[in-house]
Amino acid sequence: MIHSPQTAAARPLALVTGANKGLGLEIARQLGNLGYTVFLGARDASRGEQAAQTLQAEGLDAQALALDVTDQASVAAAASTLRARFGKLDVLVNNAGIQIDDLPPSQLSPDVLRRTFDTNVYGVVLVTQAMLPLLRLSDAARIVNQGSAMGSLSLTSDPANMRSGYWLLAYSASKAALNAVTVQFANELRAEGILVNTADPGYVATDLTGQQGFNSMEDGAKPSVRLATLPVGGPTGGFYNIDGPMPW
Ligand SMILES: NC(=O)c1ccc[n+]([C@@H]2O[C@H](COP(=O)([O-])OP(=O)(O)OC[C@H]3O[C@@H](n4cnc5c(N)ncnc54)[C@H](OP(=O)(O)O)[C@@H]3O)[C@@H](O)[C@H]2O)c1
Repeated sequence: MIHSPQTAAARPLALVTGANKGLGLEIARQLGNLGYTVFLGARDASRGEQAAQTLQAEGLDAQALALDVTDQASVAAAASTLRARFGKLDVLVNNAGIQIDDLPPSQLSPDVLRRTFDTNVYGVVLVTQAMLPLLRLSDAARIVNQGSAMGSLSLTSDPANMRSGYWLLAYSASKAALNAVTVQFANELRAEGILVNTADPGYVATDLTGQQGFNSMEDGAKPSVRLATLPVGGPTGGFYNIDGPMPW
């Protein structure tokens, strides 16, 4: 449920998709700590509300926003709500994602491939297109797409790299496609000063990884937060992890 407190009027506004848990929630937390009003996109309204309450209890200006990135009506409704209540958006973090590969590439079902692309690629395009009119009203709009090292063709094609050992056709292909989405939007929006980049969080224990990972949640959110808060004239059309540029 969206509230519109007077105190939020001067704050920059950030929307994080898939923010009810995992990296999305931590990205929202860090942006909130930087003074943003954060909208926590969540496909399940009650999970979104619970997450917003967690951040509110930490003193942050956080509000849940119902948003299923695969549902055009839901995306349009979220954009209408933001337009009606706040009139613009400064930051969009396309974080929502799934990793549901269960078989080697030779046996992967088309359904898994389709559903993965629906969320990780089409969802990002849908949400970005819907939010662009609001982002264009910002003085310094930033779009961050939550990518993955598994989307790096350089890394996953190197037999010496551990990432070549994972059977993740759908996930890896979706995150490689997401990099192309980033570059395409960056090229279109460069002249308007809207910066669009892909973040790689590293390997962080979340539900998506079966709670496996060796980077902290805090560090995992940092690349997205840094790209969401780039200064005017900052890079666009790039791919970054916590240490700097990543190979495509
Ligand atoms: N963890 C890592 O090591 C790692 C590494 C590289 C990249 N990433 C990327 O980081 C992002 C966040 O993942 P995570 O690790 O934090 O996983 P997570 O804890 O499973 O969180 C995924 C989030 O995406 C949401 N989501 C899924 N489908 C959605 C939809 N159709 N509409 C709206 N929200 C949806 C989930 O909502 P529900 O709670 O409703 O399912 C959840 O909030 C993903 O894009 C992932 O690919 C993660």
